[in-house]
Amino acid sequence: MELPLRPTLFDFNGVSMTKYFTDNWVNIQSFKARPDDIVLVSYPKAGNTWVSYILDLLYFSQTSPDRQNSVPLHERVPFLEISIPGFPSGVDELNSINSFPRIIKTHLPVQFLPQSFWEQNSKIIYVARNAKDTVVSYFHFDRMNKAQPEPGDWNSFLQRFVDGKMVFGSWNDHVGGWWEKTKTRSNILYLFYEDLIEDTEREVSRICSFLELSPSTDLKKEVTEKSLFNNMKHNKMANGSADEVLDFKISPFMRKGKVGDWKNHFTVNQNEQFDEDYQRKMRNIDLSFRTVL
Ligand code: PPS
Repeated sequence: MELPLRPTLFDFNGVSMTKYFTDNWVNIQSFKARPDDIVLVSYPKAGNTWVSYILDLLYFSQTSPDRQNSVPLHERVPFLEISIPGFPSGVDELNSINSFPRIIKTHLPVQFLPQSFWEQNSKIIYVARNAKDTVVSYFHFDRMNKAQPEPGDWNSFLQRFVDGKMVFGSWNDHVGGWWEKTKTRSNILYLFYEDLIEDTEREVSRICSFLELSPSTDLKKEVTEKSLFNNMKHNKMANGSADEVLDFKISPFMRKGKVGDWKNHFTVNQNEQFDEDYQRKMRNIDLSFRTVL
């Protein structure tokens, strides 16, 4: 199959996007949610794949064990807004799922989530990750993902991130917009990547409470174990290697899986400037992130 060309960014209703996430907009916006859908939302590189694997294991590892060995995770958990020529769109993939619940991946900022999810009161899990590790992970991802814009060098990439000129827009607007929404909607669980790293089993328990699941202690332990970074990294069905647009010769998808890798990328000067800008932008947002554990 012919690989897509690297797209360019453009302003889409105030958010930087590429055509691979807007070409199917009418079908995305008119998407028909089902009440038992589970929507997994994050800014890119916050741990969406990790939580999607946890959810898939919780719901299907016992009822459909074959699924774990034969279907890549990105097909089990389709990406709502994706639409790349030559590949099935996320909407089509989701509409063809007969099992339930559907676990749906999205990176949409809160104002773009299709209305139907709100009307159906679908359960929504948001995963947030500190900005510094996010931008580092995003840089390496854009180097290896041929369906993302050219990343350029680290310095210019970091500046673009600060300017909010990334695919799916500004990190601050994304994490802040979804956080504000939790204040008026009880169907959203807001998770932090750093908490997942700190104590995965505890966070799996939180996810289960939110989803009203009561797995056995053994299943919870198994899910936690299988979703550990090194286990996922070596699992071909969960490590991204089945995704044709990713070039593992440049960088692996499961890259480091750590809190604090930003220290290997930011110069002292970049860190100071980043902190200054960050504090200004987050002044009115009552959210705090850990950049070290
Ligand atoms: S994407 O492409 O936007 O959907 O990426 P996303 O899955 O949200 O985030 C990818 C980063 O999450 C890390 N990851 C994990 N960390 C710890 N444990 C587990 N199990 C795990 N699974 C994925 C992945 O390695 C990316 O982070 P970096 O910092 O690049 O390693």
